[in-house]
Amino acid sequence: MAEEGKGATVEKPKLDLRAGVWNNGQAAPWDFHIIDHYRYFNFPERARGYKPEQPIKFSHKLHAGDLKMECQFCHHTVAKSEFAAIPEVEVCMGCHSQLVNTEATQKSEEIKKLKEFHEKGEPIPWQKVHVMPDYVRFTHKRHVKAGVACQECHGQMDSMEVVERASSMKMGWCVGCHREKGTSIDCAVCHK
Ligand code: HEC
Ligand code: HEC
Ligand code: HEC
Ligand code: HEC
Ligand code: HEC
Repeated sequence: MAEEGKGATVEKPKLDLRAGVWNNGQAAPWDFHIIDHYRYFNFPERARGYKPEQPIKFSHKLHAGDLKMECQFCHHTVAKSEFAAIPEVEVCMGCHSQLVNTEATQKSEEIKKLKEFHEKGEPIPWQKVHVMPDYVRFTHKRHVKAGVACQECHGQMDSMEVVERASSMKMGWCVGCHREKGTSIDCAVCHK
């Protein structure tokens, strides 16, 4: 999508993708957030900025930002279960089979891949971006019901071309917000 006058005037400042994240994604000194220690000690997928390559270049900036689609249109279980569903190929095809059949999408290699997955009846092997250790218990439903916004944990998703982890989501970060909101900080709440 062409932007008018691009390059002619001062570019808009790039919105910080981490804006709006609770406590700026930081927690307690014992979480070592300053050096994001997982980046250096083996678990890059549990550090801020983790941004795996996806099998199809799906853009949240385009779909959730420019097209203003609701998060829950695609992540339809987020308010009623522990997990936020990743949409099936059929959800994409609802638009991309007919409705959205522009010149750009007809030529698009990415849409070609999407249609191949659909024809083969295979799920798209999306790479998980937010990976929690197995011993952690987390539930979306309770947070959404309590009015915690997606951005407080995931950042400015509607500005992301590629999804990245906006907070390290370490224990001190979770506990800090629970303390502030008067929510339980019993070990058993978050640990199995
Ligand atoms: C309190 C913090 C928090 C809030 C609020 C939150 N999420 Fe999450 N989200 C997480 C965590 C933590 C994970 C990783 C869960 C895991 O791996 O067990 C996650 C994972 C996900 C996933 C991957 C699938 C899954 O469930 O593991 C999607 C998609 C997602 N979130 C979407 C959303 C959307 C959409 C909203 C707003 C309606 C939202 N999240 C609100 C913390 C949050
Ligand atoms: C509500 C309708 C709608 C849904 C649902 C939808 N899209 Fe889109 N998508 C669009 C529109 C509109 C465009 C922009 C088309 C254009 O620029 O001509 C687009 C563009 C794209 C592009 C960029 C194509 C290119 O190279 O120019 C990709 C890739 C894409 N969508 C993938 C997906 C995937 C994957 C899903 C499912 C997770 C999905 N879309 C769901 C409406 C939708
Ligand atoms: C058109 C469908 C669609 C819409 C609308 C959409 N998403 Fe997504 N979302 C996806 C798909 C497909 C993936 C998996 C691929 C990826 O990570 O890019 C995903 C991945 C994510 C993840 C990362 C999940 C993980 O692997 O940990 C989060 C967080 C997320 N979305 C949040 C949001 C939020 C918040 C909104 C609203 C601002 C939103 N999404 C709107 C389709 C959508
Ligand atoms: C921005 C604030 C915030 C952050 C960050 C946050 N939480 Fe929460 N959490 C809440 C609120 C508010 C509730 C709702 C309590 C209620 O339903 O009364 C809640 C509830 C929960 C519950 C259900 C509690 C129960 O009594 O069953 C679990 C489990 C939980 N959070 C785990 C986590 C984990 C794990 C993380 C970090 C990955 C996290 N939370 C990060 C605010 C937060
Ligand atoms: C609000 C949620 C929450 C509460 C309450 C909580 N934890 Fe955690 N805890 C987490 C999360 C999330 C992680 C994983 C963080 C990460 O990936 O670095 C974790 C990790 C841990 C680890 C592993 C640390 C590491 O670096 O490997 C231990 C041990 C632990 N918690 C013990 C406790 C104890 C003991 C309590 C009670 C005093 C407690 N936790 C309460 C969310 C919580």
